[in-house]
Amino acid sequence: MIQENIDITHRHTFGIATQARAWADYESVDELRQLIQEARTRGLEFMPIGEGSNLLFVKNYEGLLLHSEINSLNTITLSDNEVLVRAGSGWKWDDFVAYCVEKGWYGLENLSYIPGTVGASAVQNIGAYGTEVCDAIESVTVLDTDTLEEQILKGNECAYGYRTSRFKGVWRGKYIVTAVTFRLKHTPQYILDYGNLREIVGDTPTLQSVREAVIKIRRSKLPEPSELGSAGSFFVNPVIARKHYNKLLEQYPDMPCYEIDEQQVKVPAGWLIDHAQWKGKTEGGAMVYPKQCLVIVNTGNAKAGHVVQLANDIAFSVFEKYGIIIRPEVNYVY
Ligand code: EPU
Repeated sequence: MIQENIDITHRHTFGIATQARAWADYESVDELRQLIQEARTRGLEFMPIGEGSNLLFVKNYEGLLLHSEINSLNTITLSDNEVLVRAGSGWKWDDFVAYCVEKGWYGLENLSYIPGTVGASAVQNIGAYGTEVCDAIESVTVLDTDTLEEQILKGNECAYGYRTSRFKGVWRGKYIVTAVTFRLKHTPQYILDYGNLREIVGDTPTLQSVREAVIKIRRSKLPEPSELGSAGSFFVNPVIARKHYNKLLEQYPDMPCYEIDEQQVKVPAGWLIDHAQWKGKTEGGAMVYPKQCLVIVNTGNAKAGHVVQLANDIAFSVFEKYGIIIRPEVNYVY
C-alpha cells in the first residue's frame, strides 16, 4: 500500500518540486489503522493530506503522507426541512457541494469551487461569501491516532472560529478526520449579502444559480489550481482594534473592513498588500497574484524559499506601513 520516495510536486496545489519519503492512499478506516501501525513500526512520522491546497512544503517531507480515498455517503432525512449527510473525508470538496446542490440541499452552495477535500474542510473551517462550513457541521468522525479508535466529535466541541478549529490547535496530530456529517436544509435559505453576490445572482435565486455566481466570482479573482500553482489566500485577514482602524481611516479613507464587534474589526489583508504596492511583485518564481494580492502564485519554477521570502517581505512591509501583523493561513510543512 505504501509508495516509497515519491514525487509529490503535483499532489499539492502550489506545484513546487517536492519529494516525500512515503505516500499511501487508503479507502477505509481499517486501512488507515494499518498504515499508522506500519509507520510506527518503521519509526516514520506521518501526516494526513487531502488535495494539499493549504500546504507549503518548505523542504522534502521525510515521513508518510496519508491520503484519504474514503468516498462514502450516508443520509438521514430528519424532517421535511432537514437532512443529515455524512460524507467520507476523501470526497473532493467541490464534487460534494455539486452533489448537495443537485439534490436540492441548502447550506453549502456559497462554498462552491473551494479546492480541497471534505476532511480538510472540517479542520480548516473553510469559508467564503458569508458562509463558514462550521455553520453546517453537525459532527466530525475521527480516528484517534494513539488508540486507533474512531470517535464522533460534535461540531460545537471543535472550537470553530475564522479559519481555525481545535484540529489546528490542541488536537493537532491527535485525530485524523475520516468523515464529516452536515446538517442541510430542504427549504431555501440564501446568504447573498457578501460583495456583489446578490447582484450577480439576480432577483430569482436558485441553488444552482448561487453556485454558478460563486464560481464566476472565484474564477474572476482567483487562480485556477490546474493552471497556476497557489494555496489560495496566503494570509488570514487580521482582526484589529476598532481604534486602530479609525486612526488608519484618517490616512486611508478607502480601507474596507468586516464588522466583528464593538471593539474589533477585520481588515482584508489583500487590500493592505495591494495598497502597499505588492501587486505582481516577484521573488524568484513566486509572485503576488495581480487579481487578488492575498494569493501568492508559483509562476512555474518557484522554490519554497522564494515563497517564504516573498511572504516575509510582504508581512514586514504591511507592519511598517499600517502597524498590522498579518499571519500566513497556509500551513508550512518542515
Ligand atoms: N482587495 C483589494 N486588492 C486585492 C484583494 C482584495 O483591494 O488585491 C479588496 C477587495 O476589493 C475587497 C476586499 O479587499 O474590498 C476583500 O476582498 P475579497 O472579497 O476578495 O475577500 P478577501 O477578504 O480578500 C476572503 C477569503 C477568501 C474568500 C473571500 C470571499 C480569507 C483569508 N480569504 O478573501 O478565501 O474567497 O473572502 O469570501 O478570509 C481562501 O481562503 O483561499 C480564499 C480565497
